[in-house]
Amino acid sequence: MKAALLNKAREIEKANHEAPQTRLMEPFAAEIAGARLMRALGIGTSPELKVVSRWDAERLGSKWILKNPDGKACFDVAALAPEVLAVRKIPGAASLRWLAERHDIRSTYPWPRGADLDQRCAFHVTRATIEAGKFLPPDGFYADFEPKRLPRIRAAAQWNSFEQLGICAARLFLACGAAHIGNILCDGAGRLYSIDHADCDLTDGSEIDLLFESVARGTKSFQALARVAELTDADVLAIFPSEVLAHYAARLRRWKRAVI
Ligand SMILES: Nc1ncnc2c1ncn2[C@@H]1O[C@H](COP(=O)(O)OP(=O)(O)O)[C@@H](O)[C@H]1O
Ligand SMILES: [Mg+2]
Repeated sequence: MKAALLNKAREIEKANHEAPQTRLMEPFAAEIAGARLMRALGIGTSPELKVVSRWDAERLGSKWILKNPDGKACFDVAALAPEVLAVRKIPGAASLRWLAERHDIRSTYPWPRGADLDQRCAFHVTRATIEAGKFLPPDGFYADFEPKRLPRIRAAAQWNSFEQLGICAARLFLACGAAHIGNILCDGAGRLYSIDHADCDLTDGSEIDLLFESVARGTKSFQALARVAELTDADVLAIFPSEVLAHYAARLRRWKRAVI
């Protein structure tokens, strides 16, 4: 079953790579819905996202990250599109990539050899490739990050911390990009944040069944997955744009059936 799950993950990734026009939502809508989902699940994320003109974006200053319509962050003003998504920087937080490089706080990526899929399941199985999170911000980018509670930061940064599994489970429900070390941030108190939900896959939902067949009840991963099943139809209604409501309502029904 585990091989079937990984094969499914590769299949979905390949299909979406080959036909990006079948994208479920345009990247700005996906990013905004993703942030709403994280908030509904009590997971940290950017406090504010807004679509603005390039002219306005250029005047926002250093507390904002700008994303182009392809969903990618853009740090070169000359390459900004006429309309961009401004994502407010999460105060006092830095990416796990930055923590690894600058503070030597390493999560155990890639997964420990032999680690069981039951435990790592929530690492976004709809994306077989967990790329490294390439963007390493320049010095000063995370100047407001103060590692006040180092033991908590170290614990949260581990690949199988409950908080990370919670983020992975939420991203899996969204079927968005991987929870790699560029897409998870941590603040000085050890709280994690999920960012970059711009790229959501259209899937037939069968990966949800495969996933639940691979995860043992009673594990931390299962608990993280079960948390997502607590979402209600009203949550789905408040989170997603109308074009994809039916899709996510069906995913939630499938998810709830699997948890019972
Ligand atoms: N809200 C944010 N707060 C702090 N840093 C951020 C935020 N959003 C993005 N970043 C930084 O910018 C990088 C790229 O942004 P991301 O949203 O992941 O876009 P991409 O699709 O290009 O990977 C992240 O890895 C992170 O270092
Ligand atoms: Mg990213």
